[in-house]
Order: sequence, then structure tokens, then C-alpha cells
Amino acid sequence: MNKFKLLMLTSMILLPFSVSNSAEEKPTDKLYKFDEMNGIKFSDYLDFEKKWKLVTVRYRKDTGEMRLTYANDLAFEHLLKGSKDYPEGSVFAKIGIKTVEDKAFPSSAVPGSARRYQFMVREKKKFESTDGWGYALFDKSGKIYPEDQAVQSAACAACHRIVPERGYVFSEVMELSLFQGEKARTKKETHYSERIKFREVTYDKLPELIRKELPPVTKLAKQIDHEISKFLFQGTLDEIKPLLAEESVKTKLPVFIIGPDNKTFAVVFIENFEIMCEQEGKKGYFMKAVSSSLGTAAPNYENRFCWTL
Ligand code: HEC
Repeated sequence: MNKFKLLMLTSMILLPFSVSNSAEEKPTDKLYKFDEMNGIKFSDYLDFEKKWKLVTVRYRKDTGEMRLTYANDLAFEHLLKGSKDYPEGSVFAKIGIKTVEDKAFPSSAVPGSARRYQFMVREKKKFESTDGWGYALFDKSGKIYPEDQAVQSAACAACHRIVPERGYVFSEVMELSLFQGEKARTKKETHYSERIKFREVTYDKLPELIRKELPPVTKLAKQIDHEISKFLFQGTLDEIKPLLAEESVKTKLPVFIIGPDNKTFAVVFIENFEIMCEQEGKKGYFMKAVSSSLGTAAPNYENRFCWTL
């Protein structure tokens, strides 16, 4: 083969690749390759959603956020066995996705863009203080959040400790095959109130920060009495609101969580006892949630929602 022919051949092979490369930017080009949390990099698990098993789907009814949990083969195998102590190398990942309305058919919500990615990586020695799981959290472009990583990890572990009998993994494999659905729905589960304790606090003993958010008629409130209160980060405050709402509707009292700094908090209460709201044909209460903006100068974060009974 002469030199010219060889050149022709190589350029024919290379051309299609070089064209597609320059024409469109790959997501990996924008990835924050060096961002890591606890030594865990997003780039270590790139495309996990294409390679791993989809374990389950969860939906947060107050914010419309969908969560997809994935497991690598090892983690999946042990999840199926109901493991309490996952072997080294097991990894779980969770994607949080905001759902948006499909304009073509508005009652059908579709996944919008991803909001954040979370990982749990099993390495018992390295992550001894967080029960053998390394926790990592990234935003939609694979970037870490500015909050203190030690506090974030402690907060992740504290909440995941609610399910020790599942090896600190919340997700369970969803049953989709024929006749499996019945089994999944009738499964007995321990109620959250048996896992998380609340203590009653009279109005005069309430932290000032909480008191000033509450209606003046308040006489009594309930405070979360669990180790998750010790390590609070934005994720906990956001994640805990449905639980506060549930307890508030059950007891008809304001329910709150506050950190040891006496600054970081979230409180949820029924804003209107007279008028009920309605959601998907069910009656509920008009609720208000207020949470701190974690040491920043930004005002407290407020939102209102309907919580069905
Ligand atoms: C206040 C409680 C809470 C906190 C704090 C929390 N999680 Fe979770 N996590 C959950 C729940 C509940 C699920 C089950 C899926 C769902 O409902 O979103 C879950 C699921 C997961 C999963 C999928 C595997 C599993 O256990 O189901 C990963 C991975 C994960 N979380 C990582 C993290 C990381 C990383 C952090 C800290 C940055 C964190 N979590 C903080 C409650 C929490």
C-alpha cells in the first residue's frame, strides 16, 4: 500500500469520529472531574444509570420530585437477599428528578431535568464512622455542594440509621412482575413513629426562632428527638418536611427539628384549621413549612402545601 492510499484510509476511518466530536459537546466535557466527596468522584460512576439495575422509584408527593435508585450488581444481589451487612464494593446511587407537566397531556407528569445525584459506597474500614458507607452528594452537573463535607456525611448517615435492619439502605426492590404487586402492597412495615421519637415542648420553652414562626394560639409543639437533629444540612431540612407534616396532621400540633447550633431548623404546622384543601380527591390541611437558610444571610425559606389525611 503506498503512502497516499494509507493516508486516505486513515482519514476515512477517523473522519466520522472527529466530525461528531467537534459538532456536539459530550456531557463528560462539562463534568467536574476533580470534584469529590469522601474520595468519591462522580466520574468514577459515570453512566451508572445505563449499566446498573434500577432498584425502585419513589415519589415525593409534596414537591413532585421523583427518585430513581440504582444498584451495581453486587449491591443488587445482596439487596435481593435482604442483606444487613453489604460486602465491600457495593454501591447504590440515587437520582432526584423534578417532574414537569407534559404539555401534550397535562395530567401526565414527565421527568424534567435531574437535580442531584447521591451515592453510597461500601468500604467498611475507610467509612467506619458512617457505618461502613461512604456518602457523596453531587448537583446536576456533578459538582459538590459548598457545605462542610463532614457534617453532610454525618447527616446522611444519621438519617440512614433509621433503617439498621436493612443495612442502612432504605430502598427495596420494586415488585413489577405478574402477581408480585399484591405481595408488595400487603407488606407490613414499621411505622416511622416507632423509629423516630418526638418530645412535647410547651410554648414558653420553645426556641425563640421557632416561636416567632408559629400562630400566637400555639400552646404546645412537638420536637424531633433523634440523632438526625445533631447533624443538619440543607438536605435534611428539605427531606424531613413530609415527616414533620405527617406528624403535624396526626397530632394537630406544630412539629419541628432544630440543630445544636440553635439556628438550623425546620417547622411545619397547619395554617388553617377551618378550611380544608383537596388533592387527588382526598381532603387535607393547608400546611406551612418554614426552614432556616443554614447560616447564610438569605431569609428563611417558606412554602405552603396541601397535606392529605
Ligand atoms: C432525612 C433523611 C435522609 C437524609 C439526610 C439522607 N437520606 Fe439518603 N435516603 C433517604 C430516603 C428516605 C431514601 C429512600 C429513597 C427516597 O425516598 O428518596 C434515601 C435513599 C438514598 C440512596 C439510595 C439507597 C437507599 O438507601 O435507598 C442513596 C444512595 C442515598 N440516599 C444517599 C444519601 C446521601 C449521600 C446523603 C447525604 C448527602 C443522604 N442520602 C441523606 C433519606 C435520607
